[in-house]
Amino acid sequence: MKIGFIGLGKMGYHMVEHLLGKGHRVVVYNRSPQKTEKISRESGAIPAKSYEDLINKLKAPRILWLMVPHSSVEEIIGLLSGLLEPGDLLIDGGNSNYRETRRRAIELGSKGIHFMDAGVSGGLAAAKTGYCIMAGGPEDQFRRVEPMIRDMCVKNGYGHFGPAGAGHYVKMIHNAIEYGMMQAIGEGLDLIKNGPFPDTDLLKLSDVWNHGSIIRSFLMEMTHLGLKHHPDLSDIDGFVPNSGEGRWAVEDAKEYGVDVPVIEESLRIRLASDKVKTFATKAVAVMRDEFGGHGVLQK
Ligand SMILES: NC(=O)c1ccc[n+]([C@@H]2O[C@H](COP(=O)([O-])OP(=O)(O)OC[C@H]3O[C@@H](n4cnc5c(N)ncnc54)[C@H](OP(=O)(O)O)[C@@H]3O)[C@@H](O)[C@H]2O)c1
Repeated sequence: MKIGFIGLGKMGYHMVEHLLGKGHRVVVYNRSPQKTEKISRESGAIPAKSYEDLINKLKAPRILWLMVPHSSVEEIIGLLSGLLEPGDLLIDGGNSNYRETRRRAIELGSKGIHFMDAGVSGGLAAAKTGYCIMAGGPEDQFRRVEPMIRDMCVKNGYGHFGPAGAGHYVKMIHNAIEYGMMQAIGEGLDLIKNGPFPDTDLLKLSDVWNHGSIIRSFLMEMTHLGLKHHPDLSDIDGFVPNSGEGRWAVEDAKEYGVDVPVIEESLRIRLASDKVKTFATKAVAVMRDEFGGHGVLQK
């Protein structure tokens, strides 16, 4: 298949590599041209210098994938919408709010442009192993791009979950679950560190927990790596940013009358972490950095 790809950041760059590795032809555009040049030179992507150049290098009906922060999606759609033609398909692979996605699908749909959402999970590690993708949008458009989605994902690691917004909705819930799981791991370690056995080797424990225990998991692996890279987490500040999804999930829970105390409390702790820093928030900060490359504030 031939596809246009916008956004060669921590996620997009390697997703394009996956597509190229599976024989797809990918025309790439990135705001800063160095990444466009690098992936074209090293991996065989077709470089585009501008949105116009990108559109011209694809034959209608086109398929375009956006992999940018949710705060930039509106601006980019604005720039693209005058260039796209009826029948073209635009896919938002970032972590956008599903309500915005529903609105965008209606607005673009009125011009005959198809719009799909694709929540992507797997973080930086997925660059090697493949991604997990949760799609929303018209079923026929999903079928149109399914071979490409399949090629970016681990085996059985993708699905279509309903009309526009459904993919971003389940990705939002996925991230909200992640908030709670990470907070629980952090709190457990905090209680060991500040309990009756403060000299417990947490690096060793997180490794042992990853071998056969019930709480062995990808997040526990990230905890282990975080402790390895930041012994005793002593250089970590403990501030945990929130990118929106946990907050949106809590807002939705209130609107729909669903009780989500674990997620809500995890969000509250994150929001307060600019002032209240604990061993638990430090652990959450390093986990996020290990799986998503989100960075950590050093003390
Ligand atoms: N990191 C993760 O673990 C992860 C996991 C799942 C989903 N996501 C989601 O995937 C999306 C991308 O994340 P990422 O981690 O790859 O982000 P990133 O590393 O910060 O990369 C962002 C990309 O978007 C481009 N961009 C930003 N603002 C732009 C604008 N106004 N116009 C044009 N291009 C713009 C950047 O271009 P420049 O190179 O010029 O800055 C860069 O290519 C986000 O929605 C994120 O929430 C991230």
